[in-house]
Amino acid sequence: MKINTQLHREPLSDKVGQKILNLDKVSILDLDQQAIIDLFKSSGVLLFRGFEADVNTFTEFSNSLSTNFLDYSGGVFNRRVINNNQTVLSVNDFKDEIKLHGEMYYQKIQPLMLWFFCATPPVEKGETIICDAQQFFKELSESMKVLFNQKKLKYVSYWNKEGWQKRYKTTDLKVVKETCANNGTQVKVNEDESINLEYMCPAIYPSRDGNHPTFIGSLLPAKKIDPNIVNFDDGSEITDDIMSELYQIGEKITTEIAWQKGDILMIDNTRIMHGRRTIIDDQRDIYIRLCSPSFPF
Ligand SMILES: [Fe+2]
Repeated sequence: MKINTQLHREPLSDKVGQKILNLDKVSILDLDQQAIIDLFKSSGVLLFRGFEADVNTFTEFSNSLSTNFLDYSGGVFNRRVINNNQTVLSVNDFKDEIKLHGEMYYQKIQPLMLWFFCATPPVEKGETIICDAQQFFKELSESMKVLFNQKKLKYVSYWNKEGWQKRYKTTDLKVVKETCANNGTQVKVNEDESINLEYMCPAIYPSRDGNHPTFIGSLLPAKKIDPNIVNFDDGSEITDDIMSELYQIGEKITTEIAWQKGDILMIDNTRIMHGRRTIIDDQRDIYIRLCSPSFPF
């Protein structure tokens, strides 16, 4: 019988989100699901702490609240498959910091929702960071609001044959072309079967209810990784001054999550950006699932 244990909650920080604590020493699977859904819809991000979940419990819990799990095909980083489940993946395989971003906003089809699970916390540092992307928009100067409302972003990238085969999980260029067409991405195939990709998108999106402009996307980390990857759609440069204003806003409104073993994080990928601080040890092992909510959203 389902117990529907009530939620014990407190603010995750003074900026964003809620934390659900396990004061009654129950299984996370016995929590009142409607209460979770209501709190997720109002808060955008929930951290479940103290439930001593393992990866199986994490998988079952996320299955119970989500649908349409993605296997990260089209994603740009290397991820390991966990437990032979193509929809439970490690986070990417390098240690650098990753600036705040919405997941997979460099293509049209994005997961609406993300789950993170802490299999092993880092010894120190390596925090995951989150922020409210509607708050991010509010913090922009008036001139930046005008600029990003007027101009779209253009992402360009080059992939050799080995690279695109890994990224799109196929050896068939036809499949790549089809996937890119569905994703609003232009593909140019070169003689050596390398490809060039081009994708345009806004930096500011309306919220699902249409009432709150939301500054969300991949601009901050993309620009950090390679300044040539993304600029404005008219060919003009997104300058260092612009980026430094954006990075400053990001720091001002960031909440850091110092992982504890078994933590589960539930994120609305249309409203909350995430990233991470630099990793300094080899222990940190965090998993991710990309999906949609299985409830009206
Ligand atoms: Fe991410």
